[in-house]
Amino acid sequence: MSRLTIYRDDSPDAPLLKTEDAAVITNELNAIGVRFERWESPVALSPDDDAETILAAYRPYLDALMGASGAGSADVIKLTPDHPQAAPLREKFLQEHRHTEDEVRFFVHGSGNFVLHLNERIYDAHCTAGDLISVPANVKHWFDAGERPFFTALRVFTDTSGWVPHFTGDDISTRFPAA
Ligand SMILES: [Fe+2]
Repeated sequence: MSRLTIYRDDSPDAPLLKTEDAAVITNELNAIGVRFERWESPVALSPDDDAETILAAYRPYLDALMGASGAGSADVIKLTPDHPQAAPLREKFLQEHRHTEDEVRFFVHGSGNFVLHLNERIYDAHCTAGDLISVPANVKHWFDAGERPFFTALRVFTDTSGWVPHFTGDDISTRFPAA
């Protein structure tokens, strides 16, 4: 189940809010300019389905989103515990960073945590299958899917150069709970 935990950025031991209520999660994230939606799967998808099948299933949602956001393309990324780069990828994106374009992800299967740092708050969004989240350009954040990552996600983007992480050099993610 999706979950949002909010902390002051200097108080990892004292959450201000912890909720699994989708409406509250949506409101809290929308209030800081973060798009968060639940998309119903139009068909039952298996983790073994290929990218074309997954993209076709969500095409109406994607067309509506791309029309609204101006983003131009979508692809599918899968990460499993046996991925040879699972550990280094985790280390990389656990470090606080920003991007030059919105980081838009929809979870088809599995889960992952997008943790945003703004307004002296930490917003830890545990996203699960059916969640769309858009981390706005230039918002500091990190990502963690744990030691055994398992997810299939759609990535919506304009230019893949927008994926390049610009690290802040702050080790703040080490002070907050890992996924
Ligand atoms: Fe990122």
